[in-house]
Amino acid sequence: MSLYSLLCPARIIAGPGSIESIAEVVADFSVSRVLIISDQGVARAGLIDHPKAVLEKAGVTVTVLDNTPPEPDVGQVQAILNAARQQSYELVIGIGGGSAMDVAKIVAVLLNNDVSLRDLLNKAPIVRRGIPTLMIPTTAGTGSEATPNSILLVPEDELKIGIVSAKLMPDCVILDPKMTVGLPPAITASTGMDALTHAIECYTSKKGNPFSELFALKAITLISRSIRRAFTNGNDLVARHDMMLGALYGGMCIATSSTTAVHALAYPLGGKYRIAHGISNAILLPYVMRFNMVGNADKFRDIAMAMGLDVLSLTAESAAHAMIDSLFALNRDMAIPADLKRWNITAANLDTLVDGAAKVTRLLDNNPRPMNKNDIRAIYAQLI
Ligand SMILES: NC(=O)c1ccc[n+]([C@@H]2O[C@H](COP(=O)([O-])OP(=O)(O)OC[C@H]3O[C@@H](n4cnc5c(N)ncnc54)[C@H](O)[C@@H]3O)[C@@H](O)[C@H]2O)c1
Ligand SMILES: [Fe+2]
Repeated sequence: MSLYSLLCPARIIAGPGSIESIAEVVADFSVSRVLIISDQGVARAGLIDHPKAVLEKAGVTVTVLDNTPPEPDVGQVQAILNAARQQSYELVIGIGGGSAMDVAKIVAVLLNNDVSLRDLLNKAPIVRRGIPTLMIPTTAGTGSEATPNSILLVPEDELKIGIVSAKLMPDCVILDPKMTVGLPPAITASTGMDALTHAIECYTSKKGNPFSELFALKAITLISRSIRRAFTNGNDLVARHDMMLGALYGGMCIATSSTTAVHALAYPLGGKYRIAHGISNAILLPYVMRFNMVGNADKFRDIAMAMGLDVLSLTAESAAHAMIDSLFALNRDMAIPADLKRWNITAANLDTLVDGAAKVTRLLDNNPRPMNKNDIRAIYAQLI
């Protein structure tokens, strides 16, 4: 077995109402000028006003940049970085989903390094950690609050690219399920399926290890028992709490293991057709798992059991099929599209999609079953 390691935020404050501790958390960093990076949807949901007021009451000067677009591209992140350079800050707080948190993480790093965003995309190393970061997720999905990744869209390549460095790992997280009660059902469903995908992929990944096994199986249990409840009743704080923890554990899985072919095939769908990250993953998940289960049925039986399915009397293969059926059922119950038809993707687009996905070797190399271009094509072809 190869070596494995776990990197995670130094401090995580969790539970309903944990946002109230923000002034105490920020005081621990001994800072007086902070930058909040967020987005318009989060601002409209009223999720920035209260933490900002609490910080200001404690004597902290707060600047808010709430113009992160959903799934930002390189140029948009550069514009936010330019705005962040107008003043000097001592702490960056990301409040939002993966989009705002990924931008907050990369901006914090770029504010403290003599390297450009373009250089980072071209794999230049990050020399120093960024200025300190505090992440406050408002979706239960990406787990970005606990990953060393920032994902950006590169329009000219029609692909999403992950910048990965231990220096991107946030310093601190406030994990308050109350920040997600207003998340609309459709985003609850898609972001929750992203979190479930992280756990399932990291569990079955070639990079899977005892740390990812621990977090993945727990994440699968928490998400499977609560995602429908959170989707149906956003005010169900117990379900929201399960989802937040499940998403955090999914992020911790990414930090020690790796996602695999679902994420690799999702990147060109986001890059070319701007399909939301969680939706692309949710649609691909059962199809890629049906491909991956061959030769890996035992792991899929573990997942079926973590999902709470009654598979004890079944063979590993039958349990794996039951697990895949239940992924289809989850998508159906939460009105997630079953295929890519509504995006008008045709056979003529397959070459571009296949070439885009095949480039994501960072993830494909970890897929439990080798996947060549013909395999990738066959999976996309089932969805159009
Ligand atoms: N860093 C990582 O490890 C990692 C992992 C997976 C995905 N990602 C990236 O994260 C991004 C997706 O993040 P996401 O799925 O969290 O979506 P998102 O951050 O784009 O948010 C989706 C929408 O939900 C709104 N929203 C967020 N919280 C809300 C709330 N509480 N109430 C009402 N509206 C709210 C936002 O305004 C936005 O319009 C993608 O770019 C993806 O590639 C990163
Ligand atoms: Fe993801």
